[in-house]
Amino acid sequence: MDIRLMKPSDIPHVQQANITNLPENYFCKYYLYHAMAWPQLSYVAVDTSRPQKTPYDYPKIVGYVLAKMEEDPSDGITHGHITSLSVMRTHRRLGLAEKLMRQSQRAMAESYGAHYVSLHVRVSNIAALHLYRDTLGFTNDKIESKYYADGEDAYSMRMDLSDIRLEAEQGRREDEDEDEGDAVGSEGKKSEDASTGGAKKEKKRRVKMGRAVGVADLVERTESSKA
Ligand SMILES: CC(C)(COP(=O)(O)OP(=O)(O)OC[C@H]1O[C@@H](n2cnc3c(N)ncnc32)[C@H](O)[C@@H]1OP(=O)(O)O)[C@@H](O)C(=O)NCCC(=O)NCCS
Repeated sequence: MDIRLMKPSDIPHVQQANITNLPENYFCKYYLYHAMAWPQLSYVAVDTSRPQKTPYDYPKIVGYVLAKMEEDPSDGITHGHITSLSVMRTHRRLGLAEKLMRQSQRAMAESYGAHYVSLHVRVSNIAALHLYRDTLGFTNDKIESKYYADGEDAYSMRMDLSDIRLEAEQGRREDEDEDEGDAVGSEGKKSEDASTGGAKKEKKRRVKMGRAVGVADLVERTESSKA
């Protein structure tokens, strides 16, 4: 069994698994939006034991987690959200859902600095409630009345990701310190003087890239500088 990131080419198979396992289904473009906007957050479980008879045989996807970052969080706190999770009946109770969830949660905290992860679950979904509450450590935030189309209530649950986020930040700080390549001892001093011609070494500055800047921001700045 292989747990790996979801690719756009997996989407029809993930959609099939979703339709088989859950009544909450989505258009293909919604899966694609997840894969394009937050490519680090959604994972699939692939049954690698199935022999590939032709080069066109697609590996069998037996589970998935579809996840995103909340785009406009009502509480103003950066957090992730589990849109959908399921594992095929034939492959349940093997720990796949737990692994899929943990991978996604880690990526939310490491890649996007998520403070917590949220999700909704039917109040009658005993298996999922056990997974979220007992195995992963989610807590109930509130009950959302008639959340589902058939009128069932949902538990709104969340789990704190501070530990993973702080660990990732610490790791990044250590990497930065190493990247700076500060001069060590008299040898380091000499090589620094040689490379800067004796001038004071310019301090490296981190700049925001991509999503952190905001696409509109990037486009408008480029356009206005040309105008
Ligand atoms: C909920 C679901 C995703 C769990 O998938 P899974 O791969 O079987 O789960 P795991 O093997 O990782 O189980 C982890 C833990 O979840 C809990 N759990 C899973 N299935 C359970 C069940 N049938 N009854 C009670 N607890 C269950 C247990 O605490 C389990 O830990 P344990 O095996 O050490 O006791 C799966 O049952 C499923 O796809 N259900 C239909 C779709 C669904 O309900 N999705 C969730 C929507 S919110």
